[in-house]
Amino acid sequence: MPDDAHLHLRDEAYLGAVLPHTLERFGRAVVMPNLDPPLTTVRRVLDYRNRILGHTPAGASFVPWMTLYLHAGTEPRDIFLCAQEPSIVGAKLYPQGVTTGAQSKVSDPLRLLPVFEAMAQSRLPLLIHAEDPNPLTDPFEREARFIETVLTPLCARLPDLKIVFEHVTTRLGVEFVRAQAPRMAATITVHHLLFDRRALFAGGLHPHLYCLPIPKSEADRQALIEAATSGESCFFLGTDSAPHARAHKECACSAAGIYSAHAAIELYAEVFEATGRLERLESFASRFGAEFYGWPLNKGSITLERNPWRVPEHYAFAGEELVPLRAGSMVPWRLVTREIGT
Ligand code: DOR
Ligand code: ZN
Repeated sequence: MPDDAHLHLRDEAYLGAVLPHTLERFGRAVVMPNLDPPLTTVRRVLDYRNRILGHTPAGASFVPWMTLYLHAGTEPRDIFLCAQEPSIVGAKLYPQGVTTGAQSKVSDPLRLLPVFEAMAQSRLPLLIHAEDPNPLTDPFEREARFIETVLTPLCARLPDLKIVFEHVTTRLGVEFVRAQAPRMAATITVHHLLFDRRALFAGGLHPHLYCLPIPKSEADRQALIEAATSGESCFFLGTDSAPHARAHKECACSAAGIYSAHAAIELYAEVFEATGRLERLESFASRFGAEFYGWPLNKGSITLERNPWRVPEHYAFAGEELVPLRAGSMVPWRLVTREIGT
């Protein structure tokens, strides 16, 4: 049974609309805290966890792993409180303005050093959206710039801090993670494995392929595929499935985020099969994330078969519409069973 180490579930009726897709495919998910308002306190995180569990049918055997939202006002004592909560597995840093719900007011992450020291001390992983928040920086250069200005000095300063480089998108990022492993690992989304930046502009502008970090070049995509299918334990599955209503995607200023939870593991299977490394999917999806976070492996299993199906044009989304990745087109792999195991 796989784990999704990076997931956006939103809240209330939206949460109820998207959670079933993840419950069918995954045993656990690391749930992102960029709600409105963001989950900046342990209380808010635990209340949200209860709302997720409230939408989880009895017997679904699903564990939401929770994260705290770091912001300019976070203090070391917030970290020590988190570290006492078994259901909180990390704290997420969104530098100011880098994506949806990134109102952290952290434009210089190194100013949070006392917070990061507390995290290193309590072995609470830092989950990081690794993009330079300077609005003048070219969107295609933001990951590289962040590695240079934040991650390199931070890693040198705090060798005991565990870091997840979330949704890595560049060859440079992949190489940096490899060099820092095992104290660092990276999640890799299925959309960054499936297409490069050309797809956003092919025959017109495609808002449903717009996400942050923005997909990079084909050479970068090849580096991601090589990393994901390499069998190296520092790369593992994290979908970054990020639902937005159609009206917020198909408009003058499209929201960033791609919805992939409806077919996540099936689409990863497609990528792994295309490289001839399907047998490595299991470790990438079910083992390496758990090992990094220190969880036991899931007891259950899922079964996929090669039996193409067509993705719906849209899903219901609390009175609105949600356009999923690959809407209206075929996915070659199909989920057939999910067995909980004992
Ligand atoms: O494209 C994105 N959408 N990237 C993120 O980092 C956040 C996400 C969202 O929450 O919509
Ligand atoms: Zn995300």
